[in-house]
Amino acid sequence: MASPSNHDLIERWRGEPAPLLPLLHAFHDRDGYLSEESIRATADALHIPLADLYGTVTFYHHFSRQEPGEDAPPGRGAPRVCTGPICRLVGAHELLAAMKAEGATAMPCAGRCDEPIPVLKADQVLIGRVPNELRPTPSPLPPPNPAGLEECVFESIREPGQSTLDGYQTAGGYEGLRRLVHAGSPANVIELLKESGLAGRGGAGFPTGVKWEAVAKAPGTPKTIVCNADEGEPGCFKDRVIMDYDPHAVIEGMILAAYATGATRGFIYLRYEYPETQQVLEQAISEAESAGLIGDRILDTDCTFHLYVRRGAGAYICGEEGSLLNSLEGKHPFPRNRPPFPVTHGYENLPTVVNNVETLASVPHIARHGADWYKALGQDEQAGTKLISLSGDIRRPANYEVPLGLPLRTLLHDWAGGPSQGRKIQAVTMAGLSGGFLAGDDLDVTLDEPSIKSKNSFLGAGGIMVFDDSRDMVDVARDAMEFFAEESCGKCFPCRIGTVRLVERLAGEAGPTEIGAWLDEVTDIGQTMKAVSACGLGIAAPLITESLMRYFPKEVAAHVQS
Ligand SMILES: Cc1cc2nc3c(=O)[nH]c(=O)nc-3n(C[C@H](O)[C@H](O)[C@H](O)COP(=O)(O)O)c2cc1C
Ligand code: SF4
Repeated sequence: MASPSNHDLIERWRGEPAPLLPLLHAFHDRDGYLSEESIRATADALHIPLADLYGTVTFYHHFSRQEPGEDAPPGRGAPRVCTGPICRLVGAHELLAAMKAEGATAMPCAGRCDEPIPVLKADQVLIGRVPNELRPTPSPLPPPNPAGLEECVFESIREPGQSTLDGYQTAGGYEGLRRLVHAGSPANVIELLKESGLAGRGGAGFPTGVKWEAVAKAPGTPKTIVCNADEGEPGCFKDRVIMDYDPHAVIEGMILAAYATGATRGFIYLRYEYPETQQVLEQAISEAESAGLIGDRILDTDCTFHLYVRRGAGAYICGEEGSLLNSLEGKHPFPRNRPPFPVTHGYENLPTVVNNVETLASVPHIARHGADWYKALGQDEQAGTKLISLSGDIRRPANYEVPLGLPLRTLLHDWAGGPSQGRKIQAVTMAGLSGGFLAGDDLDVTLDEPSIKSKNSFLGAGGIMVFDDSRDMVDVARDAMEFFAEESCGKCFPCRIGTVRLVERLAGEAGPTEIGAWLDEVTDIGQTMKAVSACGLGIAAPLITESLMRYFPKEVAAHVQS
């Protein structure tokens, strides 16, 4: 069959909601790269200044582009090898070097830390540690709860066929939605969530019911529900498993959000590195549409809700909600200044809910079993559960659903088997990388925000990477800071410059050689970044150096003096 023409592709996407990314992907898929001609055609069709579009296209990691005078760019099929913090521990750089002849390049953490190393080739994720062992491998299902505890998000995820509409409904899916739209009201949904204590699971922990209420009350239509499926935080891979094995839970959560707030359209913003997940989501959306759960007059009510998947193109900052909204709107994906917040000025400047995958997937379970049930899943006054993506130097890396309030050591040792024989856990990261390190006696925290914040860190999205006593923590910190420096969007200088200065100091390439002066300078850079950075990236990155200096003073002194 002949490839679609530029005109065909443009007509397919012009007039659709959030058309820039899908149109660019259509050209990228057709040609294997973005040619100058296709970028010009996109700029013309969507009325975007050409220079702005070039700036945006080159911002994303995964758009392969034809450079002037170049005949054959490496293309979207060239392998991208994950060199995230866990993959580095098991030979990512060696794998990358072995694949250089095929045009392989490095990519930041691709969300498969439970079974490294992922290599992305076109629309396939291959897993392996040496080139001839790379195989397509579905994401691992979470193991049964090691303590036999009742779960929320993972309640039915291991049921065979759960990703299909039939399987989901057999396990009670869409029951909560049906009951609430036929025998309840939007206000009931909001009240239920407020009572449950559910808070955002994407990092900031904002109460979900309060967010939905703000959107319901905000003037302006159409309103929008955005599912943040960008999952770019190194060490986090929980959203992927939910979407792969329980996609209807996310969809039901989004429909409930639409019903509660009066939103009529929704987007799932999916990270580029999850191509197979896109197919699962699109199949589930199409099943839900056929069953009258999405579309006009859903479940024979007056409610309308249309849902679209939009694939990102590789940029950690696009997980930050303002950046994500700009990306959807076809703008340069810089974070937005706040206030105003998305609840009043979100997608197209109209009221918008932005929620994480796990947050949305929790809602149908709460709708079915009630707020008291959810609250009681937590321990020690903490409401509910949290998914933890556990990886690194630990015997059973996996996604675990823990009751909030569970001691970290119980997760590490009793649930996940502890470190390998003869090794000790030296440190763990929190919130993926963004929470910095915990070590020593501070590993006695419980898994909830109050406990972890008391140690100057935070639980955030729930990625925990483990480093045993064979690891050089200064090296680990340098790699982490390199990630933040690479992913800083560059909008504000404290973060753009501060992350690079911290990498140089951690690499021993610049800065004082006397320990007191080194500590002062690194502390000063970090404090400036925390005080004046415009978004969470620049505020969180110095937690790496702060926690390194706190827990590993001898190692830092040896590094500075070497
Ligand atoms: C640098 C940065 C990256 C982020 N990445 C993600 C992400 O990948 N997924 C996510 O859900 N939230 C991410 N967030 C948080 C979002 O901005 C936002 O708070 C969240 O999507 C709201 O959903 P929730 O209330 O359900 O947590 C990120 C924030 C920052 C500052
Ligand atoms: S803090 Fe960093 S990532 Fe955030 S807006 Fe500023 S430069 Fe961009």
